[in-house]
Order: sequence, then structure tokens, then C-alpha cells
Amino acid sequence: MQFSTKTSAPEKTKTGCAILAVQGGKPSAAARAVDAMSGGAIAAALARGDLPAKAGSTLLLGLGGPIERVMLVSLGDESAPSEKAFTESARAALRTLAATGAKDAVSWLGEVAVNGRDAGWRARVQALAARELGYRFDRMKSKRDTSPRGPGALAFGCERAQVAAITAELKTATALADGMDLARDLGNLPGNVCTPAYLADTAKKLGREFGMKVEVLERKQMEALKMGALLAVAQGSALPPKFIVVRYEGAGPKQAPVVLVGKGITFDTGGISIKPAGEMDEMKFDMCGAASVLGTLRAVAALAPKVNLIGLIPTCENMPSGTATRPGDVVTSMSGQTIEVLNTDAEGRLILCDALTYAERFKPAAVVDIATLTGACVVALGHHHSGLFTKSDALAAELTGAGRDMADPCWRMPLDDEYQDSLKSNFADMGNVGGRAGGAITAACFLARYTKAYEWAHLDIAGTAWKSGAAKGSSARPVPLLTRFVLGRAG
Ligand code: BES
Ligand code: MN
Ligand code: ZN
Repeated sequence: MQFSTKTSAPEKTKTGCAILAVQGGKPSAAARAVDAMSGGAIAAALARGDLPAKAGSTLLLGLGGPIERVMLVSLGDESAPSEKAFTESARAALRTLAATGAKDAVSWLGEVAVNGRDAGWRARVQALAARELGYRFDRMKSKRDTSPRGPGALAFGCERAQVAAITAELKTATALADGMDLARDLGNLPGNVCTPAYLADTAKKLGREFGMKVEVLERKQMEALKMGALLAVAQGSALPPKFIVVRYEGAGPKQAPVVLVGKGITFDTGGISIKPAGEMDEMKFDMCGAASVLGTLRAVAALAPKVNLIGLIPTCENMPSGTATRPGDVVTSMSGQTIEVLNTDAEGRLILCDALTYAERFKPAAVVDIATLTGACVVALGHHHSGLFTKSDALAAELTGAGRDMADPCWRMPLDDEYQDSLKSNFADMGNVGGRAGGAITAACFLARYTKAYEWAHLDIAGTAWKSGAAKGSSARPVPLLTRFVLGRAG
């Protein structure tokens, strides 16, 4: 979808659909201008009560003239819409628009003031909603989905003084949406297609397209690096593991990089500690951390900010087999610390700990790992907030702010050393599971033992990376949060 700005008078702007705001029952300035041109048709429709006051209600009118269709959109009853009301109204408007035959549209919704949010934000929210509604995953169907995807072009009506700011936001939104589409596709692809090798090929393709260095370490190299924890997870699978390193170099070599580490379990059966059959299909999403790293790299590389960013992706399958790791096996991680694998289903932390040790060589400014790590995090936070774990108040504020800004929120959880006790093992330096209590926290505590060399945060996205039920599919979260975070680090 093509995005642009329009500064012409609303009533004279030729378009397939003019999207006009109604706030507290009153038409916006653009709506009044179009109304005057049409001899009061809009005012008459409102007087008849054809547009419910509820935010997100829409009404289509055919008025003739240069505007093929007019869509009235209610932004609610208050004097100004909240961020949420504005976002939901924009979504509703775009959904209505997609069901029409309009080839293009101009939205004047940005005229409406939203508490503390500027014109750029108002355009970005609409652009991202348009891209999200336009997303389809029909690659695995024998027939393409031909249901309407909305118009090919969407313009944002604004004043001349707002053009520069809005254009910049639209560029960011497009790059972000492209990164989110990549993450979503990878998440939605089944485990028999999106394998470790497929993730590695995707990274290489991304590298070629955007001029990023991509290195893929094979099992032999992982053995040489003594990544015993990662290899212990991979050893049950017929598919070879990969360790993917992607470098975006936007700043000088002296500037310490941000490192993102994404969990890339392309299918998690649980291993010998096998999971129950119900909903096990959803464990194809266990590489959504990895997908979010690639999606963020794509968005960032397209925007070319002055920052250094490295993506690390340890990726393999977690399968039960005659060569799989047994409960009770003791493995030696790359850090030298030994681990008793009490539960082979706690595999995410095993592949991440070696990646976190590998990250040390980059002398990072900050490391953030992203993982569908624990069911316990879903129990604790549900599906709205990702879990955030860090000892750094500064990093916590940065990530929380980035999430809030992009409607991709995370919530800080405790990481106190008291929780470390539950990882005690009689036979190794640590076990790979604590008890049932505080499962998301003890998982983070495990990772903390491998992150002493730098500033680090962990995002548990088990509850936010995908939706279950009728709308089953990847959410592309937390690509918006991560992209905002990385852009915020640019000089
Ligand atoms: N990938 C799962 C976590 C998960 C579970 C994400 C459900 C989303 C929904 C992870 O590898 C796992 O199996 N974790 C175990 C850890 C336990 C054995 C300590 C869990 O959460 O049950
Ligand atoms: Mn597991
Ligand atoms: Zn897992």
C-alpha cells in the first residue's frame, strides 16, 4: 500500500473515498467543507441519527462530485478521543473501506486532536492499521485468498506545515510494517517449512537485500565454540542446528552495538519431557523471538539510522528421539557452567544461554533477548503485556517507553537474586528448571547467570507473539517495541 499526504481542500480532493471524522456528534472541519459542497447531505444524515455515537461506527454515503464515496467515522462521544478510541476508530474505518471497491482513499481523521499525540502519530497509527488489515497468509493454501485487501493507495489530509513530519512517520511506518510482515510470515509458516535452515536462508537473503553481513555457524563450529547447551537441545532432531549472526553497521566501528538475541526453536515438542497433544501445533511459533529479531533488522536496515545492531539467532528443533537429551543429563554450556537438564521442555534457556555467552565478544552497549520462554509468563501477564526482566532501571525505562509508544507494551517483572535458589542442582552448577512457583522469573534468573558481562534485558513474549483460537496467527510483536528501542539509540 502506497502512503502519501494531501494538502488540497477536502471538498476538491478527487478520491475513491474521503474518510471524515465525527466527534461528539459534530462533523470535523473537513466534513463540514464536504457537507457544504454536497448541499448539507452529511448534516442531514447526522440529524437523522444514521451514525451511532460509539467510537468506530461508520457510515458510507455517495454524494457525487470529485469524491466517489464519503465515509463518516465516529470517534466517540467525548470532546477528544483517547489514543485507544482513535486507534480503534481508524481500524474500523479501514475495515469498512476494504469492503468497498474504492481504489484509493484520503483520510482526514488526523484533523482530530488526540491527547498529547501529534499529527505524525495520528498518521502512523492509521498507516500501521491499514498494513495490518491488508496482511494475508495464504502461502500454504492451494488457492490464493481473493477477499478485498483495501485500496492500493491511502493519503492523509493535512496542513502544509505538517507534511514533513507526517511523511517521515509514514516512511517509518512502512519500514516497520515490512519488518512486521516478515516476522509474521516466519511465525505463521509451519515447522516443516520454517526450519533452522529456512531461518538461515531468510537471514542471508535479508543481508543481500540490505547490505548486512550474515554469518551462519554450523554444528561443527558450535562444537568448536563448546556450545554444549544449544547442542544438547539440537541433538534429538534430524535437522541440523544453525547459529545465525546478522550485523547492521550504521555507525562507526567504535560505537558499541546493541545485540538482539532471538529464541529460534522452529518446533518445540518438549523433547523427552514431551508436551500434551492439545494445541501442540502452536509450538511452531516457538521461533517468534528469532522472527522478531529478523523483522527488526529489516525495519532498521530500511531506515538506515546511525546505530550498530547485531542479531543473534540460535535455532534448532526440540524433538524426542533415540539421540535426544534425557532428563537428568548434565551438559556444559559455552560459559563453562554445567547444567542438569531436569526437564527437556525448558529448552529455550539452553539455546539462549550459549548465545548470550557468544554475545560477549561484541562488547555490547546492551543485549536484549526475546523469547517465547514460559507458559508461566502467560499465566502471570496474559496476552497484553510481554514480560520484561532486567536489573537495569535505565534499560527497563527505555524498553517500557518504547513499548508504550508503539502500543506494544511490556511489563517489568522481578529478577531478585532470592529466586536463584530454586535453580540449585545436586549434580551440576544449576538445574534448568525451578519449581512451578514464579516460573517466568526463575527462567529469567537462569539467563541472568550468563549475562554478567554487559547490560541486559529479557523479554518473555510467550503470551504476546501469537493469537490462539479463531484468529490464530503471529502478531509480529515485539517488532514495534524493538524497532523504536533501536531507533532511540541512534545518534
Ligand atoms: N516454548 C515453551 C513456552 C511456551 C509454552 C510458550 C506455552 C507459549 C505457550 C517453552 O519451551 C516451555 O516449554 N517452557 C516450559 C518450561 C517448564 C518446563 C519449566 C513451560 O512453560 O511449561
Ligand atoms: Mn519447551
Ligand atoms: Zn520452547
